[in-house]
Amino acid sequence: MSLKSKKNFPKWPIYDEEDINALVNVIKSGNWWCGFPGAHEGENVWLFQEEFAKFQEAKYSIAVSNGTVAIESALISLDLGLGDEVIVSDYTFVASASAIIATNAIPIFCDIHPQTLVMNVDKVENLITERTKAIIPVHLGGNAVEMDKLMKIASNYNLVVVEDCAHAHGSRYKGKRLGNWGDAGIFSFQASKVLTSGEGGAIICDSDELADKLYSYTDCGRKKGTHAYKHFSYGTNYRMTEYQAAILRTQLKKFPEQHALRNKNAKYLMEKLNEIDGINVMMPTPGTSEMGWYVFPFVFEPDKFGGINKVQFYKKLNRKGIPTCDNYPPLHSLDCFKNIVLKKGLNYSNANWGKEKSNDKYFPIVADIYSRSVEFPQELFLASREKLDRVVETIKSLK
Ligand SMILES: Cc1ncc(COP(=O)(O)O)c(C=O)c1O
Repeated sequence: MSLKSKKNFPKWPIYDEEDINALVNVIKSGNWWCGFPGAHEGENVWLFQEEFAKFQEAKYSIAVSNGTVAIESALISLDLGLGDEVIVSDYTFVASASAIIATNAIPIFCDIHPQTLVMNVDKVENLITERTKAIIPVHLGGNAVEMDKLMKIASNYNLVVVEDCAHAHGSRYKGKRLGNWGDAGIFSFQASKVLTSGEGGAIICDSDELADKLYSYTDCGRKKGTHAYKHFSYGTNYRMTEYQAAILRTQLKKFPEQHALRNKNAKYLMEKLNEIDGINVMMPTPGTSEMGWYVFPFVFEPDKFGGINKVQFYKKLNRKGIPTCDNYPPLHSLDCFKNIVLKKGLNYSNANWGKEKSNDKYFPIVADIYSRSVEFPQELFLASREKLDRVVETIKSLK
C-alpha cells in the first residue's frame, strides 16, 4: 500500500499495483463501457454491483455515474414527481437537495441535532404536509440518523425513505448497515470519499421491482436481457464505466482494513479532543455501532480560543500543517435555494425556506453549529498515533 504523504499526513486516494493493473486490463480488454442489456456477464460493473451489494448486506446494488444522480434515480424510481415535498437534512452537501429539484419535487429543510449534527428526527413530523412524499436522512460523516424512529414516522404517514449514505460506506446503526433501513440507500464514490473511483455512485435496495426500475431509469429505459433498442419506459444514461467499476473492485478489497483503522483512530482522536475545554466533536448517534468516518466535524467555542472565528481557526491549523477545512453551509442559506430561482412551474411558496424564510432564525441549531464548526478530512484517520497527538497538541496551542 503506498501512503503518499503531504505535510506528513496520508494523501488520498491510496493505490497500488493491483489498481493500476485493473485499469490496464480494462484498456486492453477493449470493453470500456457497461454494455448492452444482454451482454453484462463478466463485466466489472456487474461484478462490482454484486460485490458492493454483498458488502452493504443488501439484495441489489445499481452502479451509476455519481451520487447526485443516484439520489435522483432513487426518487424517480419511487415515483416522486412534480410538486411533491421531500424532507431533507439542512446540514449536507448541495446534492442532497438539488437532486430533489431535478425530479421536480421540492426540498423541505430539517434542522439538526446539536450534538450528533444529523437530522433531528424529533423535528420531522412538524414538517409533514399533505404534499410530503419522501424523507432523505443524510448520515453526515457516516453518523446515523435515528433510523428506527424515522422509519416509524415514515410508515405512519406513508412516506418513502431514501438514505443519503454518501458518507456512510460501512456504517451500521443498531447492527444494520445504513442504506438498508429505508426503501433505498445511495452512495457516492467521488474522489474524496472513503471508497472512490474519482466519480461514481450506487443505489442499494432489497425490492426486486425497485431494482428493475432503477436499472431501467439509469440505462435508457431498457430491461435486462432485452434488445438494446427496446426502451420500455422513460430513462436516461447514468451508467458507470468499466474503468470506474474496475478501480472500485480493487479499492473495495482495501476498504475493510482502512475502515477499521479510521474507526480506531477516530475514536482515539474524539476522546482526546473532547478533553480540551471548548472543543466538542460530533457525537456518534447512540446505537451507531460502526461509522464510515468520512469527514470529522467538530465544534469549538470561540471565546475559549481568544475570540477567533472559524476561518481564522482552520487557517491557523493549516499553517501549522494540520489539514482542516470549512464544512457545508446549511442548505437554507445557499443562494440557489434562497432566491428561489430553481425550476419554472414549481410553487415553492410552501417550502420552509426562501426569501425571508431562509433566515437563520428558522434553523437555529444548524446556524449556530455552522458558525463555529470545522472538519478534518477522512484520510487524517489513516495517520499514525504520533500524528494524531500532534493534531491535539496543535489545537491546544491555539488557546
Ligand atoms: C451528503 C452527500 N450527498 C450526495 C453527494 C453527491 O455525490 P457525488 O459528488 O458523487 O455526486 C455528496 C457528495 O459530496 C454528499 O456529500
